[in-house]
Amino acid sequence: MTTATGHPGPEPNPGPGTTTLDAARVTDAARVTDAARVTDAARVTDAARVTDAVKVYGSGDTAVRALDGVSVGFPAGRFTAIMGPSGSGKSTLMHCAAGLDTLTSGTARIGSAELGALDDRRLTLLRRDRVGFVFQAFNLVPTLTVAENITLPMDLARKGGDRASAEWTDALIDVVGLRDRLHHRPAELSGGQQQRVAVARAFAGRPDVVFADEPTGNLDSRSGEDVLRLLGRAVRQMDRTVVMVTHDPVAAAHADEVVFLADGRLVDTMTDPTADKVLDRLKAFDTTSAAAPGGKGAPS
Ligand SMILES: Nc1ncnc2c1ncn2[C@@H]1O[C@H](COP(=O)(O)OP(=O)(O)OP(=O)(O)O)[C@@H](O)[C@H]1O
Ligand SMILES: [Mg+2]
Repeated sequence: MTTATGHPGPEPNPGPGTTTLDAARVTDAARVTDAARVTDAARVTDAARVTDAVKVYGSGDTAVRALDGVSVGFPAGRFTAIMGPSGSGKSTLMHCAAGLDTLTSGTARIGSAELGALDDRRLTLLRRDRVGFVFQAFNLVPTLTVAENITLPMDLARKGGDRASAEWTDALIDVVGLRDRLHHRPAELSGGQQQRVAVARAFAGRPDVVFADEPTGNLDSRSGEDVLRLLGRAVRQMDRTVVMVTHDPVAAAHADEVVFLADGRLVDTMTDPTADKVLDRLKAFDTTSAAAPGGKGAPS
């Protein structure tokens, strides 16, 4: 999924069609939020961060500017949701922040490691050791049991033989509530149970940050709620960091903070979200986005 090409180009400025005013405002907004949150240690305590992130897919007439100068930090030990309309760049932001894809310009960091400065081997190791993923499709290996699926990343990395890892995995199995299903295969589980296995697998290697792209998108609301509570518990009880893309205000309400994207830009952030507050904000974007790009704060 990762290519050797696509390292940040020599042109860090936003291209045609981008107002520098917007870019400046977004950068400032991100700094202010960070400053308020963690004073001057902001950059150190972000588990992941992108700065002036631009991602262009394709070239010429067919080029798509999926990220248009986004600066945002995902603080360690917190649960952040990314929201925005379809096509606004949520998955692109997540993939670039997680090192699954490369930025056209700007920087992406996991902790203090700048992803664009790593060669393919180091990037693969960093992803393996410090990042976990949960996708909308559960991506479990059908021939392996639940227990084998959970420990697969560690087995592949030849990690996890020590006692601390065994204790961590054991605790994780209780957190996800799968102890009585450990020897079943994915086909014998419900969708919600399969996604709980995928969540356990994402956290198995004790990663610094877990990225989840619409992890409840294929689940009924009850199973979705289970998975969301699980992600919240991993953050609050196991001191993990989670970044989750979602379309669902109810899902976003499980997060500590929501960042809103529109047209490849960061247009707002919200702390301590509730489903109603998130819904109101999304509606405000709908009604103001045509008249005022960015659509920020206009009362409806
Ligand atoms: N591999 C690709 N090649 C070309 N264009 C792409 C590629 N991936 C995404 N895009 C485009 O980039 C823009 C942002 O896509 P992205 O998948 O990040 O949106 P999203 O916010 O995750 O949308 P959704 O909510 O529908 O998942 C879209 O216009 C999309 O068509
Ligand atoms: Mg997406």
